[in-house]
Amino acid sequence: MNLLRIDQELCRTCGLCSAICVDDVFAPARPGAYPDPVNEQNCISCGHCVAICPAEAISHNRLRREKTVAFKEKRPRVAPEDMELLLRSKRSIRHFKNTPVPRDRIGKLLEIAQQAPSDTNSQDRRYIVVTDRPTLDELEERLIGYYKSLIFWMKAPVRKFLSLFTPHLMEELGKVLPDFKAVVRKHEQGEKPVFRGAPCVIFIYGSKGNLMGKDNCLTAQDYLMLQAETMGLGSCIIGYATGAPGTLAKILNIPKGMQVYSAITLGYPKYRSPRGVDRNDPVVRWI
Ligand SMILES: Cc1cc2nc3c(=O)[nH]c(=O)nc-3n(C[C@H](O)[C@H](O)[C@H](O)COP(=O)(O)O)c2cc1C
Ligand code: SF4
Ligand code: SF4
Repeated sequence: MNLLRIDQELCRTCGLCSAICVDDVFAPARPGAYPDPVNEQNCISCGHCVAICPAEAISHNRLRREKTVAFKEKRPRVAPEDMELLLRSKRSIRHFKNTPVPRDRIGKLLEIAQQAPSDTNSQDRRYIVVTDRPTLDELEERLIGYYKSLIFWMKAPVRKFLSLFTPHLMEELGKVLPDFKAVVRKHEQGEKPVFRGAPCVIFIYGSKGNLMGKDNCLTAQDYLMLQAETMGLGSCIIGYATGAPGTLAKILNIPKGMQVYSAITLGYPKYRSPRGVDRNDPVVRWI
């Protein structure tokens, strides 16, 4: 396969690369011996071996060294109190300034989102960035259409009939019916209750067939939103969009076998609160 190359001129035979790999790619390390990648077929290209090497002696032909960042300190430090402040002050933003988000800023967010964990490093996720206002308005319109049809199916006689076949689903839909009605009502009053007039919406989609396809999209979503916060951008997860995956798939041309698992509005916040919020204490069992 020749995935991994060890430069014996540089290698210090420290064994760190084989020690850090959990996929048994390397033969068991022997003192003073060069690392021997005997099971390259196991490699998930996670890059831990390349990153740990103190001598830049190991390269991986699927990983571009020029795309990696060297850390000045061994462990980049964000003071815990700074991280805490960031996490406490990051709120869901639903009021945006009328300022577009520059394309290079969005590009940076996608680059950072790709740093997020994924199952066996599959990086099984793709992005769609929509900044075109007519497209966003059409998306909003079509999603409202979807919720209108759900409201219709929830009307008494139809609901009673469908409950015979899918009682649990109809019960769950019944609980959120008032929310659907409120969204449709606001839309009819001229508001934009789904994307809230945000200048940018990012969709992340992954494989339906991958048991962890959704998780892979959500880790990227969280990285993206936190990085956005550090850049003065606000964001919000839009469940009203991902709640209608079929509608999104049609408008966004999502390939068969894939599904949009994340929709995030993005823009410069109109309001910023000078205070955080109280949340429930954690419900936890210590074992
Ligand atoms: C949904 C999901 C499931 C994962 N499951 C495991 C796991 O069971 N065991 C494990 O060692 N790593 C697991 N990982 C970690 C990935 O293997 C890891 O994120 C990936 O190889 C990239 O490496 P990095 O996170 O160190 O950058 C999981 C990651 C995700 C997002
Ligand atoms: S890239 Fe990851 S899986 Fe592949 S050899 Fe290196 S540490 Fe092991
Ligand atoms: S981590 Fe680098 S220096 Fe150490 S054994 Fe592996 S290739 Fe050689």
